[in-house]
Amino acid sequence: MKKSEMIEQTKEFVKDKLYGEGSGHDWFHIERVYKLAKHLAEKENADSFVVEMTALLHDIDDWKFSDSFTTNTTTTQTFLNSIGVEEEERNHIITIIKTMSFKGGVADSTQKTIEGKVVQDADRLDALGAIGVARAFAYGGSKNRVLYDPAIKPMEFQTLEDVKNPENHTINHFYEKLLKLKDLMNTDTAKRIAEKRHKFMEEFLEEFYAEWNFKGEN
Ligand code: ADP
Ligand code: NI
Repeated sequence: MKKSEMIEQTKEFVKDKLYGEGSGHDWFHIERVYKLAKHLAEKENADSFVVEMTALLHDIDDWKFSDSFTTNTTTTQTFLNSIGVEEEERNHIITIIKTMSFKGGVADSTQKTIEGKVVQDADRLDALGAIGVARAFAYGGSKNRVLYDPAIKPMEFQTLEDVKNPENHTINHFYEKLLKLKDLMNTDTAKRIAEKRHKFMEEFLEEFYAEWNFKGEN
C-alpha cells in the first residue's frame, strides 16, 4: 500500500472511533492537531509520514480514559500492522504516542526526535486559546467536575493519582497545565503560535474572575 493510502485509511479508522467523543478528544481535535502538525513538520523538516500518522493516532489509546497510568498501545499497534507500516516507522510512531502526554508534568514527556517534538507541540497547541478553554470545560464536565471552587487551590502534582483526582475543578487545570505549556513548546514556530493563545487564556481568566466576583454595574 502507498503511504498516501495508509494515511487515508488511518483517517477513516480514527474518524470511526473518535467521531462523537464528548470530552474534547473527538475527531475534530485530531483533525486540528493533524493540520497543525503538518504545518510544523514542513517548517521543521520532519518526516511527514511519521508526523501525520502519529498525529492521527495519538489519542486512540489514551491513558486518561483507562484505569491504567501507562499508555497501552495495543489497538494502535494492531492497526499499524494491519495496513503494513514497516517496523522502524511503527516503532517510532508508538514510541512518540507512549511518551508525548503531559501527565500533569509528573512523567518525563521529553521528545528525542523532531517528529515527536512536532506532534507534541501540535497536540499542546490545541489545548491552548479559545479552543483550549472550550476543551478544558468539556473534559471537566465529562469527569463531573465543577467549573471552579475558590476553596480548592491548584496543586503541584506528585503522582499520577493526583493528576486524575476527581475532586479537582477545571479552573485549576489552567494553572496546573495550560498556562505552563507556552514555555514547554519544542519548536520556535509552535512557540510563536502559543504566545497568542496564551494571552487569550489570561484574558479569559481575568474576565471569569470579574464575573464570579460581581461587584455591580459600572
Ligand atoms: P495530554 O495527554 O497531554 O493531557 P490530550 O490531548 O490527551 O493531551 O488532552 C489534553 C486535553 O484534555 C486538553 O484540552 C486539556 O485541557 C484537557 N484536559 C486534560 N486533563 C484535564 C483536566 N484535569 N481538566 C480539564 N481539562 C483537562
Ligand atoms: Ni490529543
